[in-house]
Amino acid sequence: MEFEFIRRDKMKEKPKDNLGFGKYFTDYMFVMEYNEIEGWHNKRIMPYGDITIDPATMVLHYAQETFEGLKAYRGKDGNIYLFRPYMNAKRFQNSNERMCMPIIDEDLFVGAIKELIKVERDWIPSGDGESLYIRPFMFTNESSLGVHVADTYKFMIILTPVGAYYPQGVNPIKIYVEDKFVRASVGGTGYVKCGGNYAASLVGQKKAESLGYTQVLWLDGVHRKYVEEVGSMNVMFLIDDTIVTAPIDGTVLPGVTRDSILTLLKDMGYKIEERHMSIDELMEAGHTGRLKEAFGTGTAAVISPIGELYYKGDKVTINNFETGDLTHKLYETLTGIQWAKIDDKYNWRERVL
Ligand code: COI
Repeated sequence: MEFEFIRRDKMKEKPKDNLGFGKYFTDYMFVMEYNEIEGWHNKRIMPYGDITIDPATMVLHYAQETFEGLKAYRGKDGNIYLFRPYMNAKRFQNSNERMCMPIIDEDLFVGAIKELIKVERDWIPSGDGESLYIRPFMFTNESSLGVHVADTYKFMIILTPVGAYYPQGVNPIKIYVEDKFVRASVGGTGYVKCGGNYAASLVGQKKAESLGYTQVLWLDGVHRKYVEEVGSMNVMFLIDDTIVTAPIDGTVLPGVTRDSILTLLKDMGYKIEERHMSIDELMEAGHTGRLKEAFGTGTAAVISPIGELYYKGDKVTINNFETGDLTHKLYETLTGIQWAKIDDKYNWRERVL
């Protein structure tokens, strides 16, 4: 890939510990622009820093914006890896199509990430569970207040060294089930990774936190009855010996981690039901002891055990608020592949260096 490299004079100091999530940003970022005549052009890796935009820039008003999330791992074998980046590239294309934004060729998307990672390799942390989170995003930078599909766009990639997404680490979290507001409905943008979905979810997140819960579980937008996803991850339930999770049919984000975990579960011999499960069925399974384990899956969250559900005054504790054996095994297997601690029989690792 041809690109310009604009060097910075002075490098930043790297954080030592307590990385948290998305608090520190590396020395460089990738940037390119789009217009109909030139297509994607002006590809460059340049010093991380502020961007200036006109107050009438359409993204500030009408939110034509999409993003992705993936990670670079410092493998135990000394190599640097991405995890299934072409799935992110494809999902980004699907998001951009829905938002009437330009498509980026998959090889350009992955190539730009690889070039930036090569430049920033020293920023990939090596502590347990630590990685370099990659945030590609696109927005319109056109100035106009008429509501229309914009003609010009900017694409950027920024990097942040991270540890666990939740302050609890990989310990069980408490989930609040939202019964009034909805996140997505059929025909909408639920499957799209766009900022607007997350803005719409904040009201539930705020309620959850005010009640002492870490995250919000969303129900479907029509009946407010069927379990869909948690604020920042997909969600799966082990009921008896079957895994139940919401299907990918337009309202749920098609998670890369979700897909990987379903593959691992199938190989482990679990029965999987991708179906619309009502919250009443789930709470009932919790009260009768059939709900053995619950966990969220996501790039940021990895595998996050769920220890409690709260719905309309009713509470269910799952597996005595302890990480279940299956959740633990899935975490170890997935992260084992990501950090090259175990064999990658699925060819999910993509070597960068
Ligand atoms: C991810 O898991 O990569 C996400 O984008 C979720 C969240 C941090 C917005």
